[in-house]
Amino acid sequence: MNNSLKTALITGASSGIGKSLAENFARHGYHVILAARSVNKLEDTAGGLRSRYGASATVIPADLETVDGAAKLHAEVKERGLVLSALANNAGFGSFGEFRDCDLATELAMMQVNMNAVVILTKLFLPDLLSTKGKIINTASTAAFQPGPYMAVYYATKSFVLSFSEALACELEGTGVTVTAFCPGPTASGFQDKANLKSSALVKGKKLPSADTVARAGYRAMQKGRRVYVPGIKNWFMAQSVRFAPRAVVVRVVKAMSRPI
Ligand SMILES: NC(=O)c1ccc[n+]([C@@H]2O[C@H](COP(=O)([O-])OP(=O)(O)OC[C@H]3O[C@@H](n4cnc5c(N)ncnc54)[C@H](OP(=O)(O)O)[C@@H]3O)[C@@H](O)[C@H]2O)c1
Repeated sequence: MNNSLKTALITGASSGIGKSLAENFARHGYHVILAARSVNKLEDTAGGLRSRYGASATVIPADLETVDGAAKLHAEVKERGLVLSALANNAGFGSFGEFRDCDLATELAMMQVNMNAVVILTKLFLPDLLSTKGKIINTASTAAFQPGPYMAVYYATKSFVLSFSEALACELEGTGVTVTAFCPGPTASGFQDKANLKSSALVKGKKLPSADTVARAGYRAMQKGRRVYVPGIKNWFMAQSVRFAPRAVVVRVVKAMSRPI
């Protein structure tokens, strides 16, 4: 590997938005580290990036649901002597259904992946990023801007990511490190199947933007150092509008928009 290359770690790079983010990093000359649990899919992605862009790509299997998964991933990167110039905390998943019916173990695993892993990886890689004046992109969601009945825990995890990212961006002003809270709306990916979301009015019968389109926009926003980025004018408008409506109204509107049909 050429040591003068900038290195980016992308979590959740085996599918959807993370795979497309990896494509953007590779296309722009980064050495990419692809992390997730599905090693075969990561290897396929790495092979494609090598052949399409002559990119340098490393696959590191990681299960971020486990308590020590994020720390192990950091240790694996350090063992290879790699220093990050970019960190994409993208791995995540949701679960659709009424809270009283949802599986607690699934929700705790979601909190581990969507929140704890983001904090742990950011903490452990911050020395790298400070030394390289690097970039952090945390995949939140439009779910971050309001509470979400039928996905109560998921929406709360994404509010956490948004709040954490904005606070960190402010703390890091003047260091050269930028933090972008990337907030896509519903996007075609493996997310809907995994979350059992296909019966929700939020996505049923709707044509969703592709993960490629969404990730390309997110990558650009990260390179510009945008603090919060919501791709798509309609998503942006929805994210803004909740600031002016009473929260009791907002939560009912989200409930109606997300209802099972
Ligand atoms: N699609 C949407 O509508 C949408 C909208 C807004 C935000 N988002 C957010 O976008 C991010 C990417 O999701 P996506 O839409 O691209 O869905 P996706 O296609 O299902 O991809 C999710 C990625 O996260 C990884 N992941 C899940 N659990 C993991 C674990 N325990 N350890 C390591 N990696 C894990 C998956 O890899 P493995 O299964 O191989 O481990 C996969 O690479 C998530 O944070 C999601 O919340 C999605």
